[in-house]
Amino acid sequence: MKGYKMANIKFFSGKTTPIEMHRVRIIQKLNLLPIDERLEAVKQAGNNTFLLKNADVFLDMLTDSGVNAMSNDQQAAMMQADDSYAGSATFYRLEKALQYVFGTEYFLPAHQGRACEHVLGKTFIKKGQIVPMNYHFTTAKAHITELGGKILEIPVKDAYDMTSTCPFKGNLDIDALKNAIAEYGKEGIAFVRMEAGTNLIGGQPYSLQNLLEVSKLCRANDIPLVQDISLLSDNLYFIKQREAACKDMSIHEIAKAMADASDILYFSGRKLGFARGGGICTSNRQHYLDIRGFIPLYEGFLTYGGMSVREMEALAVGLYETLDEDVISQGPQFIEFMTNELFKLQVPVVTPPGGLGCHINARDFLSHVPQTQYTAGALASALYIISGVRGMERGTMSEQRNEDGTEPLAHMELVRLALPRRVFTMSQIVYTVDRLNWLYQNRNLVGGLKWLDEPKILRFFYGTLEPTDNWQQKLVAKFKADFGDSL
Ligand code: F0G
Repeated sequence: MKGYKMANIKFFSGKTTPIEMHRVRIIQKLNLLPIDERLEAVKQAGNNTFLLKNADVFLDMLTDSGVNAMSNDQQAAMMQADDSYAGSATFYRLEKALQYVFGTEYFLPAHQGRACEHVLGKTFIKKGQIVPMNYHFTTAKAHITELGGKILEIPVKDAYDMTSTCPFKGNLDIDALKNAIAEYGKEGIAFVRMEAGTNLIGGQPYSLQNLLEVSKLCRANDIPLVQDISLLSDNLYFIKQREAACKDMSIHEIAKAMADASDILYFSGRKLGFARGGGICTSNRQHYLDIRGFIPLYEGFLTYGGMSVREMEALAVGLYETLDEDVISQGPQFIEFMTNELFKLQVPVVTPPGGLGCHINARDFLSHVPQTQYTAGALASALYIISGVRGMERGTMSEQRNEDGTEPLAHMELVRLALPRRVFTMSQIVYTVDRLNWLYQNRNLVGGLKWLDEPKILRFFYGTLEPTDNWQQKLVAKFKADFGDSL
């Protein structure tokens, strides 16, 4: 399509500010509760932002999952959904979209990303096998370990460096993969998992070159390469922007090259495609047949897999939209703006800016709160109290206790401020930056958290905590002194 790309609109002032290449035609009213009510709401939620009621949230930056804004074309497509249980025309439209975008032959639908992880685990993992990967995602790790497998994280060193300039912190360490193959052999490795837009280290991409090297090793050793492409749209954008060899490739060419490199693709349609759902793509008939049996057993018949047909229609259109650079650049560019503004204010953020959201380095932000008091969880709670912004803890709380009950401290204590695609406006970003700046200036008032109720599995979703002392009251008092009672 002709026209300006978002990135090259110049401002007279010389300042660059990303600009929305869409207009808002349906809106949802927001509500900013007074600070006393926010304090009460976070207490009721056990200081766990997952447990806040959305009606009590001003800007919901918990996640980009299932909350991306749909386009008018997606909404229009939902009207043509074909409800039939088997053989629905909707399925064939979605299958066609995936075949077009990725060039893969077969599509197996599933209700969301973790459902794909479940059936892939059932198909490929034998007890005791390992799954080398660039980095884990919570649900992927939970399914692999539940089935008796073990994850082996082998990202490049920069992955753990919070303030790096490395453009591809999601790359896998090729030598470490060679060593793993030498040590465990083909039989000891269920598959290699590459996660696009690596979620838990700050939405960091891998390069096409790295993926191709991983692919070559996997193929030489007859080990399946599984790509989690839930966060593909950000990764595609970063490859185009940051990888010199790909700068003249179209987004579609990059997407196809990434797909060609792998044996299996799976995704959460709650992230990729601006809708809700998920699925698995492959061109390998044997893999397709091996996985297929689990779909009707766990998900639903092969032509819907637990998804609503309306969402499937929206997903099909959303996948085509993902090939438009103006569409996929909006998220990363807003994130880059937010990250850079915070960086200028010396608020500790993960750099380079990634996809998905802006990531605050809670360990540096609250260097006086130990990880055993859930540094990132405490920061997420404090941020909600002073701003109504809901972020997500991505640190020690998101880990699972070891078998012996000890606590594995996370590599990183992050608060993720997700920017669901096409949802927030620039002034909402500016407000969030302002409140984070205030909180950073008053960081010494923030204390830690301790468990009230700690579930054994995926505790971060529904566990409850309380402050270690009365720090929240002191924080509120200081906020009122600075801003007045009503904000
Ligand atoms: N893989 C990645 C990289 C993810 O980010 C997610 C979900 C999943 C798999 C699981 O997909 O939710 O559809 O079952 N991430 C969400 C998040 C939950 O908030 O980051 P799902």
